[in-house]
Amino acid sequence: MDWKNIRQLLREQSDTCARLGSPIYSGILRRLALDTADAPVDEQSVTADPVLRVLGPHRAAVASEMIPLRLLAAVHRIVLAGNAPDLARFFPSMGGDLYAGGGPMECWQAFVDVLKHRFDEVRAGLEYFPQTNETGRGAPLIGGLLHAIDQLGLAGVQNPVPVRFNEIGASGGLNLRCDRFRYLSGDEDSAGWGPTSTCVTFTEAWLGEQPPGGDGSVRLDVRSRQGADINPVDLTTEAGQQHLMSFIWPDHVLRQGRLRCALDIARVMPVEIHRESAIDFVNRLELTEGELTVLWHSVMWQYVTPAEQQQVQKRIEELGAQATQSKPFTHISFEPAPHLEDRAASQVLVVRVWPSVRVGNMKMPAGVPQLLAKGTSHGIPVQWK
Ligand SMILES: C[S@@+](CC[C@H](N)C(=O)[O-])C[C@H]1O[C@@H](n2cnc3c(N)ncnc32)[C@H](O)[C@@H]1O
Repeated sequence: MDWKNIRQLLREQSDTCARLGSPIYSGILRRLALDTADAPVDEQSVTADPVLRVLGPHRAAVASEMIPLRLLAAVHRIVLAGNAPDLARFFPSMGGDLYAGGGPMECWQAFVDVLKHRFDEVRAGLEYFPQTNETGRGAPLIGGLLHAIDQLGLAGVQNPVPVRFNEIGASGGLNLRCDRFRYLSGDEDSAGWGPTSTCVTFTEAWLGEQPPGGDGSVRLDVRSRQGADINPVDLTTEAGQQHLMSFIWPDHVLRQGRLRCALDIARVMPVEIHRESAIDFVNRLELTEGELTVLWHSVMWQYVTPAEQQQVQKRIEELGAQATQSKPFTHISFEPAPHLEDRAASQVLVVRVWPSVRVGNMKMPAGVPQLLAKGTSHGIPVQWK
């Protein structure tokens, strides 16, 4: 029995967690890797050890299967449900603290106890692939939309600007409400865009030159919000909410707080997320008179097959060709750019607008992809070019 693959994945994920500010997960993963290093070869001892038993079926896993994160989330879900109080003492997501709780060794022991006593639940939880819904990605999306509105000259005609939000790969659809979040250029007192009353507020969300109208002077009249996902998260259920929360690492309390606030917003602003693929959704999409039709997506394109990507692109071109001054269209994408060497800011914001627009003294042909900014995998901060 060879544990090399899974051991390597656990070590790599441990390093990533350490780099991205999760000492709890980093420590647990390192211990898991150590346990597999001493793994006995006979099936009987594997069955007796909860760590080896849970990881055994995944010994030959490859990185894309994300087994380490799936295992951690399966356990986190049990903690969040209140069913692992001994481990909760260490998890800031439950008000705990790694050191006040007793330190890494005790935390590890409590983790193993969950594997031992709730084995079937953990194994069932391993089925779920990491799925988040990052509200911070609203910062590039709204900024991109403000650019599109500026280029199309829409705020000069009507302000608030009538728009329709459409999102593919929307997950729970939190970013279909991202006009209800607030984006600031600096600290709490700096200029920003979005309602001052919201609890989803991002300080230093936009770095460098601010999006046009980003001081709040351009407002939106969102006429409809629609989304699609092949595996939508139902935010109206406790299970759906905990599904999203379980994939946020327990020490990332700021992100957890934002998610809780965004869920509160979602509760009073229901949005339907259709269970369908990106192509089925865009094929149904039509432009409407007197409104800017927005199609956006973030961190989902890599999961779409090349064939579907091509079909979606083709439909975007068709919609673009139908756009007019009174029926404008924009495609806003915030997706990873593998060529970027800056690991901290590896996503790019690309905006296309139809019909053709005037930029300064130049008439820009319709649909030209404009690279406007880069950001982190969680969206913020967005660095405008
Ligand atoms: C990493 S999540 C990002 C979710 C959300 N866009 C965000 O930024 O928080 C990727 C999402 O894309 C969805 N997805 C993957 N392939 C898809 C497809 N072909 N059509 C629609 N959604 C898809 C997944 O189910 C998942 O919810």
